Amino acid sequence: RCRVPGDKSISHRAALLGALAKGTTRVRGFLWAGDPLATLDCLHRMAVPIARRGTELFIHGQGKDGLQTPGQPLDARNSGTTARLLMGLLAGAWGERTGTRAIITGDQSLQKRPMRRVVDPLRMMGADVRWVGQEGCLPLAVIGGSPLQGREYHLPVATAQVKGALLLAGLHSQGTTVVCEDQISRDHTERMLPSFGVAVQVSDVSGGQRLVVQGGQHLVAGDVVVPGDISSAAFLVAAALLVPDAELVLTGVGLNPTRTGFLQVVQTMGGQVEVVAFDNRTGEPVGDLLIRGGQDLHGTTIDHTLIPRLVDEIPVLAVLACFAHGETVIRDAQELRYKESDRLRTLALELNRLGGEVAEQPDGLVIRGQGGLRGGKCDSHGDHRLALAFATAGLAAQEPVSVLGAECMDVSFPGFSALCRRLIS
Ligand code: S3P
Repeated sequence: RCRVPGDKSISHRAALLGALAKGTTRVRGFLWAGDPLATLDCLHRMAVPIARRGTELFIHGQGKDGLQTPGQPLDARNSGTTARLLMGLLAGAWGERTGTRAIITGDQSLQKRPMRRVVDPLRMMGADVRWVGQEGCLPLAVIGGSPLQGREYHLPVATAQVKGALLLAGLHSQGTTVVCEDQISRDHTERMLPSFGVAVQVSDVSGGQRLVVQGGQHLVAGDVVVPGDISSAAFLVAAALLVPDAELVLTGVGLNPTRTGFLQVVQTMGGQVEVVAFDNRTGEPVGDLLIRGGQDLHGTTIDHTLIPRLVDEIPVLAVLACFAHGETVIRDAQELRYKESDRLRTLALELNRLGGEVAEQPDGLVIRGQGGLRGGKCDSHGDHRLALAFATAGLAAQEPVSVLGAECMDVSFPGFSALCRRLIS
């Protein structure tokens, strides 16, 4: 029985909204891991007072005008969410303030990831964002003094980072900002904004949604309770499924329906996972999961109808598919090429090194499940979710799995190895 670390996406948003708000925001269950710490570090560089007391985070927000021009670049390190949400936040917060400027940068992996998807719509709103190095990539500069005008924008791909950035920009624009998506990406930003006193109008539009936010809004400090991260829980769910006779209860796991595609797929594959407690009082649904291991798993198909609800769980699902019998087809997943590594390429390469039969497709993977994996040496490619997925495979492979560059696990799941050791002993 154990708890998983706090939700990464919600932790970022709690910190950023807390910094934009006036007053003290208290965050319980914050994820003290590489990515959210990068967000806190960026806020610190803009003179936002932040304190940690025990496991709780306190952000003493001064409102948008309290965000000072940083003396050094804001380094999002490995965190796409930090970089992209910050762009929207700063473009809006500084729209009417000349003399402000921030360089946003990241590590080598983040500098390769696409940023036009945020910059283009922000520029349409009037933001002054300039490439500092290679066009389309970090580092870039957000320059204050360009007032934003609300616009209607239709997201070409379901991405919560772009949606969140535009909503944050829209809060401090003139007029109304409308963001439409054909499929609902994780909805943490729009769920959290009302607890900071901001109204967001949400309407369903044939499978997707339309979000409307009025400009000129002032945020007031809120209290945030961060549930356990279902994306981290996924590795322990998989571990328990793969170990015969395992029985595991994971408590306090976030069960936001925009994130639960993984549970649906493992159930379809024959895995025994049940929600044994459920609570919907804090804005984000939370529950306990009971997992029973050792069932025979079979292959399945994962396509566009599910991808946005499990986009970060493909690495661990690919591992499970190797342990299953029969073919698993993952398609419509081109977005995976733009994550911390090109996950279609790196998963195929590394799972094959471990004895899997994985074929890379332009938009997905075809995995011929053989009911197990041999094991051996593999490389994380600096991608935390790959490192965690391969380590999970090691719990059930015929031979040990050793993961080169496994320290990147700390980006989202510090203490994973120690937790596994405790659960096994
Ligand atoms: C995230 C959104 C997803 C996800 C990432 C976190 C967020 O990315 O993969 O790990 O917190 O908004 P996209 O928005 O690019 O799909």
